[in-house]
Amino acid sequence: MSLLQHRPWLATGLLAAMFAAPSYGLPEPPKESPAEEAEGCLGCHEDPSIEVAFADGTRRTLQVDRNAFAQSVHFGKVACSECHPGFQEIPHPERRYASEDEFRAGMRQACQTCHFQDYSRYMDGVHHAVAKEGGAAPTCVDCHDAHAVTPPGKPRSRVSDTCSTCHSDVAETYASSVHGRLLAGPRPDDAPVCTDCHRSHDIQDPKSQAFLLRTPETCGGCHSDNQRMKPYGLSTKVMSTYLADFHGMTASLAAPHAEGSTRVTAVCVDCHGVHDITKVDEPGSKVMKENLLKTCQQCHPDAAGDFPAAWLSHFEPSLERAPLVYLTRQFYVIFIPFVIGGLVLQILLHFWRVVVNR
Ligand code: HEC
Ligand code: HEC
Ligand code: HEC
Ligand code: HEC
Ligand code: HEC
Ligand code: HEC
Ligand code: HEC
Ligand code: HEC
Ligand code: HEC
Repeated sequence: MSLLQHRPWLATGLLAAMFAAPSYGLPEPPKESPAEEAEGCLGCHEDPSIEVAFADGTRRTLQVDRNAFAQSVHFGKVACSECHPGFQEIPHPERRYASEDEFRAGMRQACQTCHFQDYSRYMDGVHHAVAKEGGAAPTCVDCHDAHAVTPPGKPRSRVSDTCSTCHSDVAETYASSVHGRLLAGPRPDDAPVCTDCHRSHDIQDPKSQAFLLRTPETCGGCHSDNQRMKPYGLSTKVMSTYLADFHGMTASLAAPHAEGSTRVTAVCVDCHGVHDITKVDEPGSKVMKENLLKTCQQCHPDAAGDFPAAWLSHFEPSLERAPLVYLTRQFYVIFIPFVIGGLVLQILLHFWRVVVNR
């Protein structure tokens, strides 16, 4: 990230300063560095007794944690006054606030000037939709903090910790799933965290078909990746076999124009579960033989007996599995080229006769 990318006004500001200065061409002496400025502010704001009083009678401390700020990603790069424009003036201009909510709301716009892309994504997400109606959904500062901002995805388990402060039930279920256990183990980078499936800022309504029909792509991204699946001995054909099947075929046809929340077909999570995905052969697995019929019955209520056997699962047909399907396919592999080849030959012969007999 270049300095000017984050401070686009800096270039214009410098230019303006050069022309405004009485001695042409001589820029003004450099402002204090962000770290120097912070030192000045902390001179007062490190004091635990510094407070602000609101019209509704409540108070709030104005103490800023020096250590937390010194360890943040912004320290030395972003000046206090870049997030708090107008506060370089000492004493600060008089400002009065009705309540703590009003006081904080003003400052919470600070992030968007530099992180405009994250901000505009956030505007498209479910949290913004709830927060702007006054709901308890998070804004930037709830997930990242204001002064103690540190890399949000390091270590990787930090992501689900962030989300779990509010979605503790989901996070608990997830923690005992095959993916959650992987995250807690020695290879956390292989595991999907909340934001791999939901994204971090433009989180979509998870009940919408548009979201659900895109999930096979998310799962498939890892589950078709040889490198990632090798250590676990898992098949990388689960995506291609799903897509070749009726459910997958319908999903890929319906995905581009999906709307509403009416189920049009089964996606990976309908059979495997969502936050509670297990190994396929462990007790409680929704796809193990004993439970599979029940899983199909969610949508095929009349299914009975060996209904699941009517479907090939993730297996590609072979002589051992589904020999009839395999042999039929093999037959067509030979038969179709043979028929088409014959047709072409016949046409050529006709053509030759017409030309020669003229
Ligand atoms: C001389 C002491 C002093 C210094 C230096 C100082 N402040 Fe303050 N600051 C205060 C006091 C006192 C208040 C409470 C004002 C009030 O009650 O309205 C305050 C309030 C604030 C607030 C709360 C918001 C608001 O509207 O009241 C912010 C943000 C702030 N200061 C930022 C800064 C920044 C950034 C710097 C450095 C550039 C800085 N301050 C330097 C004393 C100081
Ligand atoms: C990356 C942007 C950013 C930087 C840098 C930053 N602040 Fe803040 N600050 C905020 C935001 C956002 C809030 C509102 C927090 C909230 O709503 O809880 C805030 C809140 C405050 C408050 C009100 C009390 C509080 O902690 O909520 C004070 C005082 C303050 N900042 C002073 C400072 C000082 C002094 C510095 C530099 C040492 C500084 N800030 C650096 C974004 C920033
Ligand atoms: C004046 C510009 C500016 C403002 C305002 C600002 N940031 Fe930043 N932010 C930066 C810069 C520059 C970096 C990159 C630091 C680095 O790469 O070392 C950064 C880095 C970050 C990162 C870490 C990115 C990563 O890849 O690890 C997060 C998270 C972040 N900012 C959140 C916030 C939040 C939350 C706010 C509002 C409270 C905010 N920023 C306000 C300039 C800004
Ligand atoms: C619901 C919690 C949440 C909210 C709200 C949120 N973020 Fe994030 N943000 C995250 C998480 C988690 C990551 C890390 C994603 C990862 O590594 O998979 C992240 C990543 C980032 C990054 C670094 C990498 C990137 O994607 O660019 C920046 C900068 C950032 N957020 C800024 C913001 C700003 C600005 C806002 C407010 C408009 C905001 N975030 C709102 C959770 C949140
Ligand atoms: C400060 C609390 C808070 C944090 C932190 C938080 N959320 Fe939320 N989230 C909410 C609220 C409130 C709603 C809207 C009400 C609801 O549907 O539960 C919501 C809604 C959602 C929804 C839509 C739920 C639905 O049924 O429509 C998803 C998905 C979601 N959050 C994912 C996340 C992820 C992923 C993270 C972490 C990156 C996260 N949330 C962090 C409070 C939070
Ligand atoms: C492997 C992908 C995946 C991961 C990882 C994941 N989710 Fe989900 N999540 C989904 C899907 C798919 C749905 C929609 C399920 C449905 O209703 O059919 C969903 C639904 C939700 C919902 C709304 C419905 C509900 O169950 O309450 C919330 C909230 C949510 N997820 C939060 C989280 C949080 C927090 C994490 C991390 C601890 C997380 N998710 C991890 C895929 C995932
Ligand atoms: C109609 C139900 C159904 C759907 C849809 C489905 N699966 Fe499966 N899946 C199963 C069953 C049953 C098994 C266990 C038998 C087997 O291995 O084929 C299984 C096995 C697996 C396995 C274990 C493979 C191994 O090597 O042991 C993975 C991983 C998997 N599925 C991922 C996916 C992904 C990713 C998707 C979506 C692209 C998906 N599944 C869609 C029913 C389904
Ligand atoms: C970030 C990569 C990633 C994503 C995304 C992902 N998975 Fe996984 N998944 C894994 C890894 C790695 C394992 C192996 C874990 C282990 O065995 O400890 C696994 C294990 C599984 C298993 C257990 C297989 C067995 O029998 O051992 C199933 C079932 C599964 N995933 C289904 C899904 C579904 C469904 C989705 C999408 C909703 C999904 N996964 C998304 C990486 C991922
Ligand atoms: C989330 C709902 C859902 C689940 C769970 C589900 N299916 Fe389906 N299935 C559908 C829908 C909708 C169709 C019709 C559209 C299509 O072909 O995708 C269908 C079509 C089929 C067909 C094609 C013939 C027909 O009836 O149209 C078979 C066979 C089938 N499913 C078998 C299974 C089996 C076996 C399972 C359990 C392992 C299962 N399904 C689980 C929703 C589901």
